Amino acid sequence: MSPAHLGGLPDLDYVEFARCLFEESNDAFIIVDPDFETVLDVNATTLRLTQRRKQELAPSSIADLLSSDEQDGLAKVVAAFQKTGLFHSREGFSLATREDGPLQVNISVSRIHTSQRVLGLIVARDITARKRAEEANLRLQDELAHIARLAAIGETVAEISHEINQPLSAVANYAAASREKLNGDDPLAELDSVRKWVDHISSAAILAGSLCHRLSSFVKKTDGQLEAHDIKDIVTEIIDIARWDAKRAKAKLSFEADAAEMRALVNRVEIQQVVLNLIKNACESLAATDQTDKVVKIRATVQNDCVTVAVEDSGPGFGEADVERLFTPFVTTKQSGLGMGLAICRSIIKKHGGSIDAANRSPTGARLQFTLPRAATA
Ligand SMILES: Nc1ncnc2c1ncn2[C@@H]1O[C@H](COP(=O)(O)OP(=O)(O)OP(=O)(O)O)[C@@H](O)[C@H]1O
Ligand SMILES: [Mg+2]
Repeated sequence: MSPAHLGGLPDLDYVEFARCLFEESNDAFIIVDPDFETVLDVNATTLRLTQRRKQELAPSSIADLLSSDEQDGLAKVVAAFQKTGLFHSREGFSLATREDGPLQVNISVSRIHTSQRVLGLIVARDITARKRAEEANLRLQDELAHIARLAAIGETVAEISHEINQPLSAVANYAAASREKLNGDDPLAELDSVRKWVDHISSAAILAGSLCHRLSSFVKKTDGQLEAHDIKDIVTEIIDIARWDAKRAKAKLSFEADAAEMRALVNRVEIQQVVLNLIKNACESLAATDQTDKVVKIRATVQNDCVTVAVEDSGPGFGEADVERLFTPFVTTKQSGLGMGLAICRSIIKKHGGSIDAANRSPTGARLQFTLPRAATA
């Protein structure tokens, strides 16, 4: 038997088969030295993807051709391969091209032991299109969440602007009264009253300012940044906006929190959007009933490495409905509902590495709660 016929198919020329596999693969095959430092040979797909000629790439430094999001990314994949002996693949690599921007690739590495020499092999798969689609999808989700935030707050804006009017009227009245005193016959004798009114003006302006700030930061587009925040503060801030929904439903809104520190790595506005959606749903379920004692309770608790926020109401609950289905987009039982609230909540909580679920309460009502991993203490 010729050395070319070593496999189980005697009529197959395995050398030619290996050459076809190498040249005709849709993946870039890069043969390197056993230390994964120098490119020794590449296949036609590598040349096509990088828009280079073979003489430019072999020999060359692998670091010029392949870069990683992580420091020593390639060394880590090689180390993982060495540890397990298994073909190890990982994303987060870029293949340099001559003209177009770098291509995003997934790489797999292995060592080939032939009778003559040991070689390293890197197989790079172009995942640029998939990554772009994923990024576009994430951008769309952010846009959708932003639109939903605007919609969630729509009804409340008129009520809040009405509330802001009160401190602003107080500012105008105290300022007018102060001016009158200061223009009087003996302004120095009035200094004590004027000082007191200036204090009132200051606190009224701070109140109006903080309401405006809360509202505007909620409706702004977020930059997606995660920061360590105390979940208690996040919930307290959004309750200031959600209390309008409770007022409309004639429900009593309460908030209890464990004394323990409950910091989590989150995007503040997105978590506020989740809490607001849950409170809104609770209030909407109560608004539809003729109960006299309508209650929405929010609790924030800490357990081991997790922070849990639960929103409970005394409404009718979900009955026999499949609660998992309610997290699917466009599933709604409301005439004017879009059915996006819980779907957005789940995608936000998932993005934060947490989980969210819903259950009926006994004897009546619903409980929706989400759990987030706790941030390591500084
Ligand atoms: N606290 C609750 N009590 C009873 N049913 C609830 C509660 N929260 C959610 N649901 C049910 O889950 C469904 C889906 O809720 P979701 O927030 O996703 O959409 P929606 O409130 O109907 O519409 P949208 O939030 O888009 O305006 C609701 O239509 C309702 O039937
Ligand atoms: Mg809703």
